[in-house]
Amino acid sequence: MKALFGFLGLPVATLAADLLTRAPSDGTAAFSFDKMAWSTEEAIRRMPIGVFDSGIGGMTVMEAILKLDAFHNDTLELGADGVPDFKDERFIYLGDQANMPYGNYSAAGRTDYLRELIVKDAVFLLGRRAWTTEPRFDKPPVKAIVIACNTATAYGLNDIRQAIAKWKLPVIVVGVVEAAARGVLESKAEGGLGILATVGTCASGVYPRTITSTLGLAGRSVPLIAQQGSATLAGAIEGDSTFPDSISSYALKEARSLAEAYLALKPSKPLETIVLGCTHYPLAETEIDAAFALIRAEPAWKDIIAAQRTFVNPAQLTARELFRELALTKRRLKPGEACVLARDVFYLSVPNTACPGIKLTPNGSLDPDYKHSRMPGNLECEDTKNVPLTPEMLPASSARLLRERLQAVWSRLSPAS
Ligand code: DGL
Repeated sequence: MKALFGFLGLPVATLAADLLTRAPSDGTAAFSFDKMAWSTEEAIRRMPIGVFDSGIGGMTVMEAILKLDAFHNDTLELGADGVPDFKDERFIYLGDQANMPYGNYSAAGRTDYLRELIVKDAVFLLGRRAWTTEPRFDKPPVKAIVIACNTATAYGLNDIRQAIAKWKLPVIVVGVVEAAARGVLESKAEGGLGILATVGTCASGVYPRTITSTLGLAGRSVPLIAQQGSATLAGAIEGDSTFPDSISSYALKEARSLAEAYLALKPSKPLETIVLGCTHYPLAETEIDAAFALIRAEPAWKDIIAAQRTFVNPAQLTARELFRELALTKRRLKPGEACVLARDVFYLSVPNTACPGIKLTPNGSLDPDYKHSRMPGNLECEDTKNVPLTPEMLPASSARLLRERLQAVWSRLSPAS
């Protein structure tokens, strides 16, 4: 699939798909995969499940998947049976950390390039090609793709779904936004709705749009919806030194802005449901809720913010959606079958310093101006490469976050610790 994504403003996935059908590939070139990999039902069932995010935040979704016990594994009935629902399945995780934050491309006017990055993430999961010092071809293709990133779901879900359909691949695609909308539908809360997400996710309008259509299709009335896009909270939660204040102080600032945006809608009911529309935010739910409680303690806000808030965490809902889709398409492993991977594998993107024209910061990351100056369609330029992720590659703050808060993921990433 050596394809000119986004060329001449055509939809990224449509153009990529067109070119793929004209130029079938054996999957050895960059940004390509072998269409023949999904040849039998058994081969498909034994493939791993792909999960991707712009960084390590999507591991909150992977944690929810690994821990899910919402179904009886044998009968598929609803309810816990004491056995994790994905016990025998294996996963490939990709964090496109070299190109993140995805949430800031829209403000830089570069959603076209962001869409290309997102399609490339999916193509990586579909292919066998990954890097160590050289490209190698032993990474198995996946039977499902979980877009464990709100911003990537906002800008790339449709592109990926269209491409998969056009390529005629039997691959399930699940995004976090639809799952969250389902969570809003299942909630009994009757007050207003607030979305906390990245600047990009809010700018895309994906949450108000998806929630409105989900509730509308179910014959439910749509509450007032306010949004607040944050450029700082995800970084602060990750322990990025660019954001030196406490998580609580960033959470308070964003909660106040969301409350103000809600007040501006002239509500008759208090703000009750908060969608945690960024991968990192479930890790700070306590701090976010405490921030709303603090604001509500001020008399002016008592009637604007509900005494008890309901939080919608897309991670758990996405995990359930993935199970349902796999069960529906009969793509779960059958008893006695095993995945081709013995254990889960993690990849992280890093700058490819050999790429002509690449610009790096002194600490070796992609220069922010370089990041946002890139145009879609230049597939000869492989300026980042996806390499196996080991715990040593993670900044100390991220490693601590995983060790303390995402133990199921950490135990797979660092089995000896
Ligand atoms: N993973 C992103 C999301 O859920 C947050 C980080 C980023 O902006 O890349 O929207």
